[in-house]
Amino acid sequence: MNIVANWSYPTAIKLGRGRIKELADACKALGLKKPLLVTDRGLASMAITAHALDVLDEAGLGRAVFSEVDPNPNEKNLEAGIKAYKDGGHDGVVAFGGGSGLDLGKLIAFMVGQTRPVWDFEDIGDWWTRADASKIAPIVAVPTTAGTGSEVGRAGVLTNSATHVKKIIFHPRMLPGVVICDPELTVGMPRVITAGTGMDAFAHCLEAYCSPFYHPMSAGIALEGMRLVKEFLPRAYKDGSDIEARTNMMSAAAMGAVAFQKGLGAIHSLSHPIGAIYNTHHGMTNAVVMPPVLRFNRTAIEEKIARAAAYLGISGGFDGFYDYVLSLRSDLGVPENLTAMGIAPDRVDELTAMAIEDPSCGGNPVPMTLENTKALFLECF
Ligand SMILES: NC(=O)c1ccc[n+]([C@@H]2O[C@H](COP(=O)([O-])OP(=O)(O)OC[C@H]3O[C@@H](n4cnc5c(N)ncnc54)[C@H](O)[C@@H]3O)[C@@H](O)[C@H]2O)c1
Ligand SMILES: [Fe+2]
Repeated sequence: MNIVANWSYPTAIKLGRGRIKELADACKALGLKKPLLVTDRGLASMAITAHALDVLDEAGLGRAVFSEVDPNPNEKNLEAGIKAYKDGGHDGVVAFGGGSGLDLGKLIAFMVGQTRPVWDFEDIGDWWTRADASKIAPIVAVPTTAGTGSEVGRAGVLTNSATHVKKIIFHPRMLPGVVICDPELTVGMPRVITAGTGMDAFAHCLEAYCSPFYHPMSAGIALEGMRLVKEFLPRAYKDGSDIEARTNMMSAAAMGAVAFQKGLGAIHSLSHPIGAIYNTHHGMTNAVVMPPVLRFNRTAIEEKIARAAAYLGISGGFDGFYDYVLSLRSDLGVPENLTAMGIAPDRVDELTAMAIEDPSCGGNPVPMTLENTKALFLECF
């Protein structure tokens, strides 16, 4: 089935095979004449990136690229990107890539006109109102993975290179104006990235669904997002060129990010410090800590998970769902635990302190304390 769709929720989304050819039109729709394409180093040399630049070039929009983007991008990448944007006299950003390229592209567009340091815009209370919204540059987002959903998100994750802490930088206007979801761009992902990013989408849906906050719209989206992952992630993993599966995973990724306005939880609050200290892949780390977190939260989510299991066609309530997660992980080659990921428990106190400080912590169904979080970390080894 060839899926083509134009959505306006939560922003303009153009979904379908080959739609990267509409990139120049998307830029023009936002008034751009000289966009800066922001991506990571690996993607910069790939054919999909060259092709996107060709589309811009042929429409007279130039072919400027900034690619000094680390896997968990930091403030140094951001500074260099802002300089490249200003030096090049650009008027907007094409954020192109996985979560790393997308987030850094969005953050460059956000920060080019601000006078305060980026850390002043952390996602705390109304800190975002400190920004001058009129100075935020337009953003076109083009995801090349199907996981973070950053293309439809209003935040960017930035790692502080000195403290190794991951901070969420938020502003409602960081939501891209146009998104192009072309599943063909995701066909060349290495299998391990297909697995890891897909599990990130699943983690977003699962944690959003389980978070205690009242947001039934998001809960509904999260449920259907989980169903799409269940049906299509194993297919995309088995056959990377299965376009129907790739398309549906792009939808699931976007749905995860829309859903997590409801909240995230311990999976993300554990995974953020691990990623910040050990530079592990975000989604894969989520998948590794997922079963211990499910056990940790069991008493608070048993009934909810049983309802989800019924919707997903899984029998056995919470236990059935738990077993399903274990089998999905093993089908996707997810490491058994953090030890198998190559991490030793020697910095567990530091990890625990960071997890408690992580903003996702507040959305966990069972309140997280230093004591129970350390015990949870130890369960992950
Ligand atoms: N903004 C948000 O809401 C949000 C949510 C979750 C995660 N994140 C952030 O996103 C980042 C992770 O993003 P990710 O999982 O998409 O990984 P990524 O962007 O770090 O990319 C992982 C690797 O895959 C490669 N790659 C990407 N697309 C490819 C393709 N089509 N073909 C071949 N190789 C490809 C990249 O070059 C890179 O080496 C983390 O920094 C995380 O903190 C952000
Ligand atoms: Fe995530």
